[in-house]
Amino acid sequence: MRIDIIAAVPGLLEGFINHSMVKRARDKGLAEIHLHNLHDYGIGRYRQIDDYPFGGGAGMVLMAEPLAICIDQLLAERKYDQIIYLTPDGEKLEQARVNHLSLSTNLLLICGHYKGIDHRIRDLYVTLELSVGDYVLTGGELAAAVLTDAVVRLLPGVLGNEESALSDSFQDDLLAPPVYTRPEVFREQRVPDTLLSGDHARIAAWRHEQSVERTRRLRPDLNQDSETT
Ligand code: ADE
Repeated sequence: MRIDIIAAVPGLLEGFINHSMVKRARDKGLAEIHLHNLHDYGIGRYRQIDDYPFGGGAGMVLMAEPLAICIDQLLAERKYDQIIYLTPDGEKLEQARVNHLSLSTNLLLICGHYKGIDHRIRDLYVTLELSVGDYVLTGGELAAAVLTDAVVRLLPGVLGNEESALSDSFQDDLLAPPVYTRPEVFREQRVPDTLLSGDHARIAAWRHEQSVERTRRLRPDLNQDSETT
């Protein structure tokens, strides 16, 4: 999978793509991530990328032209499954959407900044608008990092244990069960006996019960159909 990210502050993403799981995915040739600095497409001597909003109001707006030049250049090279604009007024990102996006070949992410981007870019190019939650970030870069992380970790071969992505919280609308590692006793708190029993069927049943109970208590809004299975 290839992910192109257009950002006014690409430095915010450099550390992220050069570490940990995403770096591993890139090193293994499973994901290619390309950062594009919007300033490289800026207008005039000062490489301007933003301007005051028509109609007045506080804050600056990312201009259409630099974004369009950059997007056109990328579109001339390949097709994208989705051109995604990260914005607080987009569809709230959930696991089902992430699963679907992980089947893509090419994704193009556009990070907003300040008050957002000229709306014509949304009308002309963007195929999907995503929000990472009902709060406002300074720019879309951190949201792009969230989306990239969530998608790349699902690519086959990225996680050591294939099963571990499928057993994540939210894959079946259930929160994950509690997990423990050594020592068996920590500050007088014992690991639940079942997990030490070696009885795999009992452990699986215990984990499912815990998931259902935690979901009901902590996230009653999640669909509870799976508790009957
Ligand atoms: N840009 C600023 N805030 C955002 C959010 N909550 N989600 C996605 N992009 C954003």
